[in-house]
Amino acid sequence: MSQRRKLAAGNWKMNGLSADLAKLRQLIDTYPNPGCEVLVCPPATLLDRVRALTADKTIALGGQDCHFAVNGAHTGDISARMLADAGAEYIILGHSERRTAYGETDALVKSKSSAAIAAGLVAVICVGETLEQRKGGGTLEVIGEQIIGSVPEGASEDAIVIAYEPIWAIGTGRTPTLAQIAEVHDFIRAQLRMRDDGFAADGVRLLYGGSVKPSNAEEIFGVSNVDGALVGGASLDPTDFGAIVSALEAAA
Ligand code: 13P
Repeated sequence: MSQRRKLAAGNWKMNGLSADLAKLRQLIDTYPNPGCEVLVCPPATLLDRVRALTADKTIALGGQDCHFAVNGAHTGDISARMLADAGAEYIILGHSERRTAYGETDALVKSKSSAAIAAGLVAVICVGETLEQRKGGGTLEVIGEQIIGSVPEGASEDAIVIAYEPIWAIGTGRTPTLAQIAEVHDFIRAQLRMRDDGFAADGVRLLYGGSVKPSNAEEIFGVSNVDGALVGGASLDPTDFGAIVSALEAAA
């Protein structure tokens, strides 16, 4: 039996104003004592206020990106230490939207991950293939390279979470087959086991992300080596996200 604690993570992306805090309140009231870990990653502008709402820490809080430096002349950037100072416990790094829009490389994602871990945050490191790469049969090769390039050496199993997010499944309503999800998650677990890094590969949580919704959550959570989900669009609706949390609780 796996001891990995299941994790339902919501990535709000560039969504969320003060008025949306009421939705979070609804989620917290519905899940005063969730049977799995629940993580919300709002925009940085809301971190403080979300922390105030979740002061009892029944819901964990995360950022969506950081600079690799601790501080300095980096106008517009936020450091991992600042996010931790604002109450974050997790951080999403290497999301495909950042890899694509800002040219973030594996090496940059690795340095950000190291900075995040040094600041005491858990780094949720995202990997995933394009549709062209999948059609060309290159999915596992791409994922393998991203894991090697993006996951810092020497990180403890508690300090990292890997999110498999096929780019073509993000925000599209399309999802891989359960067999395809299983293949990639089993592969990631095997890749982690092959690393001689001193961490317990079997303790690292692996999330699936990409068009997770109430209607497909249960079957996805039944797939081998899926320890939870990284949810975009559906995490903005407390009823939908709540249903995903319930599906994960049932699977836990
Ligand atoms: P959707 O759930 O909207 O497809 O987004 C997934 C995602 O990118 C989470 O990080």
